[in-house]
This record gives sequence, structure tokens and C-alpha cells, in this order.
Amino acid sequence: METTDNVYYRRKERTALVAIVVLASVAVASLLVAFSYYCYIRNKLSKRNNALKKGEKHEENGLANVQVDTEKGIQVFTFKQLHYATGGFSKSNVVGHGGFGSVYRGVLPDGRKVAIKLMDRGGMQGEEEFKMEVELLSRLHSPYLLALIGYCSDNHHKLLVYEFMANGGLQEHLYPNSGSNAPSLNLDWETRLRIALEAAKGLEYLHEHVSPPVIHRDFKSSNILLDKRFHAKVSDFGLAKLGSDKAGGHVSTRVLGTQGYVAPEYALTGHLTTKSDVYSYGVVLLELLTGRVPVDMKRPPGEGILVSWALPHLTDREKVVQIMDPALEGQYSMKEVIQVAAIAAMCVQPEADYRPLMADVVQSLLPLVKNHRSTSKAGSSSSLHATKSPTSLDLGKN
Ligand SMILES: Nc1ncnc2c1ncn2[C@@H]1O[C@H](COP(=O)(O)OP(=O)(O)OP(=O)(O)O)[C@@H](O)[C@H]1O
Ligand SMILES: [Mg+2]
Repeated sequence: METTDNVYYRRKERTALVAIVVLASVAVASLLVAFSYYCYIRNKLSKRNNALKKGEKHEENGLANVQVDTEKGIQVFTFKQLHYATGGFSKSNVVGHGGFGSVYRGVLPDGRKVAIKLMDRGGMQGEEEFKMEVELLSRLHSPYLLALIGYCSDNHHKLLVYEFMANGGLQEHLYPNSGSNAPSLNLDWETRLRIALEAAKGLEYLHEHVSPPVIHRDFKSSNILLDKRFHAKVSDFGLAKLGSDKAGGHVSTRVLGTQGYVAPEYALTGHLTTKSDVYSYGVVLLELLTGRVPVDMKRPPGEGILVSWALPHLTDREKVVQIMDPALEGQYSMKEVIQVAAIAAMCVQPEADYRPLMADVVQSLLPLVKNHRSTSKAGSSSSLHATKSPTSLDLGKN
């Protein structure tokens, strides 16, 4: 028989045991809560650190400075990488200078040759041109437009990285004594026709194959670049404008572009349409025909402005030969010259509506280039730098 004492102590023992179990459970639960909280805080901290690291990288690449909305395929370079690619921006690698700054020859680590433009002027205009060039070129893709490979943008430096065009700007070849470093070779008639066609295709792409259409606004011979086989690509979109529609266009308060290439209605009223580019294209066509710069006030009176001097000669069979580049003598047929001169005359019409579409220009030039290609294939091969044409077509016989 159990005594009352025994019963009393048993009960006490049970109570103590329950208390221990409860306390232990509470302790374990608290530990679990504390551990989960620790894990949560740790996770948050590591996420924050990662974000900070990414931010630093962003800043290193300079993206913190310029918000550029690009599509895939455009590389972002550090200044250090481009410094290395150009041998420290050495003078021996300078291939040209323009309004944006100097252009350097460079080699990327994968061996690709590139042209690197280093912006040497600040201000809003430069920033805007930089942004426009990157945004547009990362979306536009045509074999007739210069490809943008990448860019670098940080606090102090803005650089654009393009495919390298071994023969530089068209103007260097048309005007060999214009003070450029590149070796200058006179372009023959066949090559000039092909350059005219390829540049026209570049503008046709911008005007007709992109929505909304893109108005280049600075189309000129130095913005037509030539690769090692003298194939042409249109470059420099810094001044480009997106047209709302082909007919309406824009009215700008600030007229931008290059003297001698700007369409009269745009220069006078700021009214900008794709037809303004057609006018500039006509001026380039005149440069190809005559070998003369658009504005040269050292010439005799009446000859300083290329368009005004050439226009009255363009539609006259007898007169047109008088304005042809003497370097082309013996290379072209009358039929070809009359056709190209007629296209040029239509493009530089003072009235924008009378100018053709770039698609029409392409269609008119295509048969001329094709014809040349077949005659050079059939006969002896045409030399790019020949001053006399090897083709069977003869001046005045057609
Ligand atoms: N991708 C390239 N490959 C090879 N050479 C180039 C390239 N881009 C430019 N160049 C050279 O650099 C020169 C200067 O080009 P840039 O576009 O800076 O000036 P521009 O066209 O003469 O004038 P603007 O600044 O008014 O457009 C060109 O004439 C050409 O010789
Ligand atoms: Mg240029």
C-alpha cells in the first residue's frame, strides 16, 4: 500500500517532468525561430551585397551615366579595354577626325579590327548624338549601313566602336589632296556607279524598310565609308531623326547638317522629310560625276556651289560631258552618263515633291551596275584604280 507521502512525491515528480518537457520544447522552438531569423537576415544581406557589386560593375562600364536603350548584340566596353585596343590611343592609329572627335584604328582581343571614335566635345549636343547613334544602330541592320559593334560611356569618356572600313571615307578618294593620311586612289567609273547604288540602298533601307522611317540628316561623301573591296556603307546617325510619317515630316527650329548638302526647304524653313536626304544624295551623286566638292568658293564665279553650277548642264546631252570628272575620261558611255545625270538632276530639285523616292533611285541605278558587272565579267577584268576603263562601252558611241 502506497503511503500518502509517496503519492504526493510522485505527483510532484510528474509535474516537474512536464515542466521540463514544456521548457525544453519552448527552448527548441525559440532556437528554431532565432535560426530562421538569422537565415532570413543573412539572405537579405547577401542579396544586397550582390546588388551593390552589380551596381559597381555598371558604374565601371559607365552605364550609370547614360541610359541607352539597346537591343542584343551591342557590346559595352570599358575605357581600359578600348585604351588597350588602340595602343593607348596612339597618334599612329588615328585614321581621321570629324565633328564628334578623332577616329582610331583598333584591334579587339578576339582579333577583330575596329574603328573607335573618341568624343572630344562635351555638352548636350554631343550626348544626344552619342545616344541617338547607339540606339538607332543597335536596331538597324543592313549590309549598306555601317555596323556598330559596341560603345563605352562613363563620366569622362564616350566612345563608339564600329566595324573597320579599310578604305575610309568616299571623299578621301574623290579629293585625294584633302589632307588625309589614307592612301588615295582615284575611283573608276564602275566603282563610282556601284558606290552610288550601295549608298542609295542604305538610304532606301532607312526611308522605306524601317518604321517609322529614319531621316539621316547628315548624308554626305565623308559619311559613305568604303571597305577593302570598295563596297560602300552609310555611317553617322548622330543627327538622324525618326520621321512621324513620310509626307508630314518634322519642323525643326535648329537646322543641322553639313554646308552644301542641306536641302533648301530644310535650310529655309526647318521642314525636314526623307526628301531632304534625297537632296543630299543628289549632291553626292554630283560629286561622283564631277569630282568636285559641294562648296568651293575658290572656283571662278558661278562655279563655287556645285548644285547651281551643275544643274543647267545635267539635262543637256552636249553640256553634261563638260562637267564630268576629267579622271573618268574614256570610262563611261553617254547613255550611262545621261541616265545618272538625270537622276542627280531630279534629286536636287528645289521642290521636294519633285524629287524621287530612294527606291526609285535604286531601281534606276541597278541596271547600270548590272550591265557593268556583266561586261567586266565577259571582257577583261575591270581594275578598280584604272584611269581608263577596260569595258567595251565608249564615250559618245551610245
Ligand atoms: N568605321 C570606320 N572605319 C575606318 N575609317 C573610319 C571609320 N569611321 C570613320 N573613319 C574615318 O574617320 C574620318 C572621320 O570620320 P567622322 O565620321 O568622325 O567625321 P566626318 O564624317 O568627316 O565628319 P562629321 O563629324 O561631320 O560626320 C572618316 O573620313 C574616315 O576616314
Ligand atoms: Mg562621319
